[in-house]
Amino acid sequence: MVNLKGIEKMNEKQRLNYLLMLLEGQLDSEKDALANISNASALIYAIIDGLNWAGFYFMKDGELVLGPFQGLPACNRIKLNSGVCGSAATTRKTQLVPNVHEFPGHIPCDSASNSELVIPIIKDDIVYGVLDLDSPELNRFTELEANYFEKFVEKLNKYIDWKELTYGIK
Ligand code: SME
Repeated sequence: MVNLKGIEKMNEKQRLNYLLMLLEGQLDSEKDALANISNASALIYAIIDGLNWAGFYFMKDGELVLGPFQGLPACNRIKLNSGVCGSAATTRKTQLVPNVHEFPGHIPCDSASNSELVIPIIKDDIVYGVLDLDSPELNRFTELEANYFEKFVEKLNKYIDWKELTYGIK
């Protein structure tokens, strides 16, 4: 089981390394894709502070559809040309947004969200979806976190056959 004792004493880098270690443990011990990404979102929410939402959207029928997450109920579907998540999926680039209210087309699923970090999930040139983190703090996310969450998605990519969950788009 996940031991959260002592995480309040960890600095940012230690927390991120701890998170990657716990993710590795999860992925090593379970093969089911849905179980793995469900616990992946729970691990992020438990270990990383200052979040109000952490979870996945998957490409289905040309739009992003809500997957496993932690936080308040969110938008079920996001069009590819809208919001931070849509931008991450279409540009295929990580979106680190210090103030979502200044982001054109931002979709306010939870009015508490003020900053956002979205990592596209791409494997073999196919976009399967995005990992989305939201915070009520302005300017919450750092380049270091963007870097680590890209590693987080790389780890998921190594173990997960996304086709179990969605077909994605080329
Ligand atoms: N704010 C996001 C939508 C997803 S939720 O925040 C969970 C966006 O603009 O893409």
